[in-house]
Amino acid sequence: MLLIQLTGLSGSGKSTIAKGVKEFLVGKGFQVEVIDGDQYRKILCRDLGFSKEDRNENIRRLGFVANLLATHGVIAILAAINPYEEVRKELRDYGPHVKTVWIQCDLDTLLKRDTKQLYQKAFLAEGHPEKISNLTGVNDPFEIPVNPDLIIRTDLEEEEESIETLYAFILDNIKV
Ligand code: ADX
Repeated sequence: MLLIQLTGLSGSGKSTIAKGVKEFLVGKGFQVEVIDGDQYRKILCRDLGFSKEDRNENIRRLGFVANLLATHGVIAILAAINPYEEVRKELRDYGPHVKTVWIQCDLDTLLKRDTKQLYQKAFLAEGHPEKISNLTGVNDPFEIPVNPDLIIRTDLEEEEESIETLYAFILDNIKV
Protein backbone atom coordinates (compact mmCIF):
# COMPACT_ATOMS: atom_id res chain seq x y z
CA MET A 1 0.00 0.00 0.00
CA LEU A 2 2.65 2.47 1.11
CA LEU A 3 6.36 2.49 1.86
CA ILE A 4 7.34 5.33 4.16
CA GLN A 5 11.11 5.70 4.17
CA LEU A 6 12.13 7.73 7.19
CA THR A 7 15.52 9.36 7.25
CA GLY A 8 17.19 11.13 10.16
CA LEU A 9 20.04 11.06 12.64
CA SER A 10 20.34 8.52 15.45
CA GLY A 11 18.12 9.61 18.34
CA SER A 12 15.99 11.92 16.20
CA GLY A 13 12.86 9.87 17.00
CA LYS A 14 12.39 7.63 13.96
CA SER A 15 11.58 4.43 15.87
CA THR A 16 9.40 6.19 18.44
CA ILE A 17 7.34 7.96 15.78
CA ALA A 18 7.07 4.78 13.69
CA LYS A 19 5.80 2.78 16.68
CA GLY A 20 3.33 5.49 17.67
CA VAL A 21 1.95 5.78 14.14
CA LYS A 22 1.71 2.02 13.87
CA GLU A 23 -0.51 1.91 16.95
CA PHE A 24 -2.90 4.51 15.48
CA LEU A 25 -3.05 2.74 12.11
CA VAL A 26 -3.54 -0.73 13.56
CA GLY A 27 -6.39 0.74 15.62
CA LYS A 28 -7.97 1.77 12.31
CA GLY A 29 -7.63 -1.76 10.93
CA PHE A 30 -4.58 -1.28 8.68
CA GLN A 31 -1.76 -3.79 8.39
CA VAL A 32 1.48 -2.10 9.38
CA GLU A 33 5.08 -3.24 9.65
CA VAL A 34 7.88 -1.17 11.12
CA ILE A 35 11.24 -2.12 9.63
CA ASP A 36 13.75 -0.83 12.11
CA GLY A 37 17.47 -0.49 11.35
CA ASP A 38 18.60 -1.46 14.85
CA GLN A 39 16.50 -4.63 14.76
CA TYR A 40 17.44 -5.73 11.23
CA ARG A 41 21.13 -5.16 11.90
CA LYS A 42 20.84 -8.06 14.37
CA ILE A 43 19.29 -10.41 11.79
CA LEU A 44 19.13 -9.78 8.05
CA CYS A 45 21.97 -7.22 8.05
CA ARG A 46 24.25 -8.52 10.78
CA ASP A 47 27.17 -8.73 8.34
CA LEU A 48 27.02 -4.98 7.68
CA GLY A 49 28.92 -2.13 9.31
CA PHE A 50 28.71 1.63 8.87
CA SER A 51 30.76 2.39 5.75
CA LYS A 52 28.90 4.14 2.94
CA GLU A 53 28.70 0.86 1.00
CA ASP A 54 27.36 -1.07 3.99
CA ARG A 55 24.82 1.60 4.94
CA ASN A 56 23.54 1.66 1.36
CA GLU A 57 23.39 -2.14 1.23
CA ASN A 58 21.51 -2.06 4.55
CA ILE A 59 18.88 0.31 3.14
CA ARG A 60 18.65 -1.73 -0.08
CA ARG A 61 17.81 -4.89 1.88
CA LEU A 62 15.39 -3.14 4.21
CA GLY A 63 13.83 -1.36 1.25
CA PHE A 64 13.40 -4.62 -0.65
CA VAL A 65 11.53 -6.21 2.26
CA ALA A 66 9.50 -3.04 2.88
CA ASN A 67 8.54 -2.81 -0.78
CA LEU A 68 7.40 -6.45 -0.92
CA LEU A 69 5.15 -5.81 2.06
CA ALA A 70 3.92 -2.54 0.59
CA THR A 71 2.92 -4.26 -2.64
CA HIS A 72 0.84 -6.73 -0.60
CA GLY A 73 -1.35 -4.18 1.12
CA VAL A 74 0.84 -3.37 4.10
CA ILE A 75 1.90 0.09 5.25
CA ALA A 76 5.64 -0.44 5.65
CA ILE A 77 7.58 2.13 7.69
CA LEU A 78 11.34 1.96 7.25
CA ALA A 79 13.02 3.47 10.29
CA ALA A 80 16.77 3.75 9.67
CA ILE A 81 19.24 6.65 9.47
CA ASN A 82 19.28 6.19 5.69
CA PRO A 83 21.89 8.95 5.23
CA TYR A 84 22.60 8.84 1.48
CA GLU A 85 20.41 10.34 -1.22
CA GLU A 86 21.54 7.85 -3.86
CA VAL A 87 19.88 4.91 -2.12
CA ARG A 88 16.88 6.94 -0.95
CA LYS A 89 16.30 7.59 -4.64
CA GLU A 90 16.67 3.89 -5.45
CA LEU A 91 13.81 3.21 -3.06
CA ARG A 92 11.71 6.06 -4.48
CA ASP A 93 12.17 4.47 -7.90
CA TYR A 94 10.03 1.54 -6.73
CA GLY A 95 7.09 3.81 -7.49
CA PRO A 96 4.76 6.55 -6.29
CA HIS A 97 3.73 4.48 -3.25
CA VAL A 98 7.14 5.32 -1.74
CA LYS A 99 7.28 8.50 0.35
CA THR A 100 10.34 10.07 1.95
CA VAL A 101 9.97 11.63 5.39
CA TRP A 102 12.83 13.53 7.02
CA ILE A 103 12.82 13.29 10.80
CA GLN A 104 14.84 16.42 11.44
CA CYS A 105 16.46 17.27 14.77
CA ASP A 106 19.35 19.62 15.47
CA LEU A 107 22.59 18.33 16.94
CA ASP A 108 22.24 20.34 20.18
CA THR A 109 19.00 18.54 21.00
CA LEU A 110 20.49 15.16 20.08
CA LEU A 111 23.50 15.81 22.32
CA LYS A 112 21.16 16.62 25.21
CA ARG A 113 19.05 13.47 24.65
CA ASP A 114 21.88 11.08 23.76
CA THR A 115 19.85 8.05 24.91
CA LYS A 116 22.40 5.55 23.56
CA GLN A 117 25.43 7.65 24.60
CA LEU A 118 26.68 7.52 21.02
CA TYR A 119 27.21 11.29 20.68
CA GLN A 120 29.23 11.44 23.86
CA LYS A 121 31.48 8.72 22.42
CA ALA A 122 31.82 10.48 19.07
CA PHE A 123 33.17 13.59 20.82
CA LEU A 124 35.86 11.71 22.78
CA ALA A 125 39.49 12.58 22.02
CA GLU A 126 41.23 10.91 19.10
CA GLY A 127 42.75 7.61 20.24
CA HIS A 128 40.32 7.08 23.13
CA PRO A 129 39.39 3.36 23.12
CA GLU A 130 35.64 4.09 23.17
CA LYS A 131 35.71 6.78 20.52
CA ILE A 132 33.19 6.38 17.67
CA SER A 133 34.73 7.83 14.55
CA ASN A 134 31.86 7.36 12.09
CA LEU A 135 28.75 8.64 13.83
CA THR A 136 26.27 10.10 11.36
CA GLY A 137 25.94 13.86 11.70
CA VAL A 138 29.15 14.24 13.75
CA ASN A 139 32.00 12.58 11.89
CA ASP A 140 30.14 10.75 9.11
CA PRO A 141 27.90 12.25 6.40
CA PHE A 142 24.19 12.87 6.49
CA GLU A 143 23.03 14.14 3.12
CA ILE A 144 20.15 16.60 3.35
CA PRO A 145 17.13 14.89 1.76
CA VAL A 146 16.24 16.32 -1.65
CA ASN A 147 12.54 17.27 -1.88
CA PRO A 148 11.25 15.10 0.96
CA ASP A 149 7.50 14.54 0.94
CA LEU A 150 7.32 15.60 4.58
CA ILE A 151 9.64 17.10 7.21
CA ILE A 152 8.99 16.49 10.90
CA ARG A 153 10.94 18.65 13.38
CA THR A 154 11.35 16.67 16.57
CA ASP A 155 13.51 19.43 18.06
CA LEU A 156 10.61 21.88 17.80
CA GLU A 157 7.57 19.81 18.67
CA GLU A 158 6.38 17.21 21.15
CA GLU A 159 6.44 13.50 20.37
CA GLU A 160 2.62 13.28 20.18
CA GLU A 161 2.50 16.10 17.63
CA SER A 162 5.11 14.39 15.43
CA ILE A 163 3.20 11.11 15.58
CA GLU A 164 -0.05 12.85 14.63
CA THR A 165 1.63 14.65 11.72
CA LEU A 166 2.95 11.42 10.22
CA TYR A 167 -0.35 9.65 10.89
CA ALA A 168 -2.29 12.37 9.04
CA PHE A 169 0.24 12.30 6.18
CA ILE A 170 -0.17 8.53 5.78
CA LEU A 171 -3.97 8.73 5.79
CA ASP A 172 -3.76 11.46 3.13
CA ASN A 173 -1.58 9.24 0.96
CA ILE A 174 -3.57 6.05 1.16
CA LYS A 175 -5.35 5.38 -2.06
CA VAL A 176 -8.48 3.39 -1.21
S1 ADX B 1 22.04 3.24 8.46
O1 ADX B 1 23.01 4.34 8.37
O2 ADX B 1 22.53 2.00 7.82
O3 ADX B 1 20.70 3.62 7.96
P1 ADX B 1 20.81 2.10 10.82
O4 ADX B 1 19.61 2.94 11.07
O5 ADX B 1 20.61 0.75 10.21
O6 ADX B 1 21.91 2.96 10.02
O7 ADX B 1 21.55 1.84 12.20
C1 ADX B 1 21.83 2.93 13.04
C2 ADX B 1 21.92 2.46 14.48
O8 ADX B 1 23.15 1.76 14.66
C3 ADX B 1 21.97 3.65 15.43
O9 ADX B 1 20.70 3.99 15.91
C4 ADX B 1 22.87 3.15 16.53
O10 ADX B 1 22.11 2.45 17.48
C5 ADX B 1 23.79 2.16 15.87
N1 ADX B 1 25.14 2.67 15.51
C6 ADX B 1 26.30 2.12 15.92
N2 ADX B 1 27.36 2.76 15.40
C7 ADX B 1 26.86 3.74 14.60
C8 ADX B 1 27.47 4.74 13.77
N3 ADX B 1 28.78 4.85 13.66
N4 ADX B 1 26.66 5.60 13.08
C9 ADX B 1 25.33 5.47 13.19
N5 ADX B 1 24.71 4.56 13.96
C10 ADX B 1 25.46 3.68 14.65
